[in-house]
Amino acid sequence: MCGVIAYMGAQAAYPILMQGLRRLEYRGYDSAGIAVMGPRDFHLSKKAGKLDNLQLLQEGRNITGHTGIGHTRWATHGIPNDTNAHPHLSRSGRLAIVHNGIIENYSVLKARLLQRGYSFVSHTDTEVLINLVEELQLQEALSLEEAVRAALNEIVGAYALIIMDSSDEDTLIAARKGAPLVLGIGTDEYFIASDPSAILTYTRNVIYLEDDEYTVIRRQTGVHIRSLDNREKTPYIEALEMDLEALEKGSFAHFMLKEIHEQPQAIENALRGRLNAAQNRVTLGGITEHINRFKQATRFIITACGTSYHAGLLGKYLIEELARVPVSVEYASEFRYRNPIIRDNDIVLAVSQSGETADTLAAITLAKSGGALVYGICNVVGSSIARYSHAGSYTHAGPEIGVASTKAFSTQLVLLTLMAIQVAEEKNTISPSLKQSLLLELERIPDKIKQVLVQNDTAIQSLASRFYEAAHFLYLGRGLNFPVALEGALKLKEISYIHAEGYAAAEMKHGPIALIDKKMPVVVLATNSSARDKIISNIQEVKAREGIVIAIINEDDQEISELADYAMYIPVTEELLSPLLTIIPLQLLCYHIALLRGCDVDQPRNLAKSVTVE
Ligand code: M6R
Repeated sequence: MCGVIAYMGAQAAYPILMQGLRRLEYRGYDSAGIAVMGPRDFHLSKKAGKLDNLQLLQEGRNITGHTGIGHTRWATHGIPNDTNAHPHLSRSGRLAIVHNGIIENYSVLKARLLQRGYSFVSHTDTEVLINLVEELQLQEALSLEEAVRAALNEIVGAYALIIMDSSDEDTLIAARKGAPLVLGIGTDEYFIASDPSAILTYTRNVIYLEDDEYTVIRRQTGVHIRSLDNREKTPYIEALEMDLEALEKGSFAHFMLKEIHEQPQAIENALRGRLNAAQNRVTLGGITEHINRFKQATRFIITACGTSYHAGLLGKYLIEELARVPVSVEYASEFRYRNPIIRDNDIVLAVSQSGETADTLAAITLAKSGGALVYGICNVVGSSIARYSHAGSYTHAGPEIGVASTKAFSTQLVLLTLMAIQVAEEKNTISPSLKQSLLLELERIPDKIKQVLVQNDTAIQSLASRFYEAAHFLYLGRGLNFPVALEGALKLKEISYIHAEGYAAAEMKHGPIALIDKKMPVVVLATNSSARDKIISNIQEVKAREGIVIAIINEDDQEISELADYAMYIPVTEELLSPLLTIIPLQLLCYHIALLRGCDVDQPRNLAKSVTVE
């Protein structure tokens, strides 16, 4: 949440900062701002709302400085207005800061500074921090580096921050704790950003700063990294392997639509090198490395948030069904704050697209302290969860920029399926025929998704125009389709702002059935061969109360097709793999509904892609 960027070098900083902020906007879009070094002081400009507002404000201005910082905000402390937008300046106006994170003890620090005569223009914790740095500098006659280190040792919370001093255009200071920060090294130029996508146009040589580290970058002497306890660290430069095209919308109207359509390719990438149906082989390297731990584990705990949590719920079905190990699935935010029982023969799976979700990170720290083996399933290469886990697998979905998660979800499912099969094989709990048929079918899934995308497109658009004004939606599913129902409802809520609830279909009669009337669209996931009769009964119950049934069904299911008011079809597949197909029409349906409602599909209100605060 929040994106920070900085540039220092021979080029004009402003266009680089703006392009970087454009790429970081998915992290928050409540306001944006920049500070660029001028001849005497900063050119400071900030504006509430999206980056376009800031861009408009700059039109006709000639901003020539070569060093600058920028920020795109997801508001935590203080409403999203111009004043609370970053960068923030110190009292003297000499120091500027951009910050992603939360300073938890900011009110104590603020009270101290108020007593010393400071006043504050914003309601942010960040303005307190930059004044604390200045105060330490003045009172204790410290250099800026020393004052930053001293301030960071006093604060409690999370941050990725960049500080600039108007009297020194050749130095940038940055630090991280619990929020990502990457340094880019060019030829006589330096970049700092929340995410490498922001600097990829200019350099592929990067250094990932670690928690509790800060860097002082001087144009003449380069990057110096130290820990907060003042130990020198050796910078490790990595080459970025990322495709610039993947960061553009191409011919699609929105990133979300592009990412929905990328799912066949993303799944192929997730399977590559791991699945070989001809040789009847599944290998996730991370599991092979720890195979005894996996075989001996008496329990798996899957911890995640949002869509990744829904993938985790599906992981439970898959792992319990195939590998016969008990699995519990926990919201990371709940897990971390109770006193869970963690044993050293537990495997904790942390599932996260971004690999930066604060609650999931905290959950894995707790899991590690209990002696469990932590296995990360992440999309973003080099992300914090990937690095802090003992082992793991990348989903290889490619950059997911739309705030609503789509291709990350389906590739997470693929990885959890591969894991379930591999562990089941090791434990001898899967029959050779089931294994073979799952592997063969997994290889067919990308083509089947293509088919779902093409076959349902027109029907989904007309369904969207029929229901885009509905006030509520219900999503029902049984077994594996229950988490898909939850995910369908989450997608609709987050991008169209329609109230939607996902329910286990059989639970309907324990309460939610009271909601059903002739205005209520009820999306029923009806592809389970194992519970088909029961699903038919659930559909009948909805219809008896005049609810409108929109069913997702297998293409050969004539009976349910006739029973439902509307239908979307998927090709027949192995039931255990069906969520990879049933989710597709749900993603498309909410996309088209959101579009008709005039919603900002890629950047829905109040949200941000990567939730790096609690
Ligand atoms: O990056 P993560 O997978 O850890 O993110 C978890 C959730 O914040 C995320 O899935 C969120 O729910 C999505 N916006 C849902 O589409």
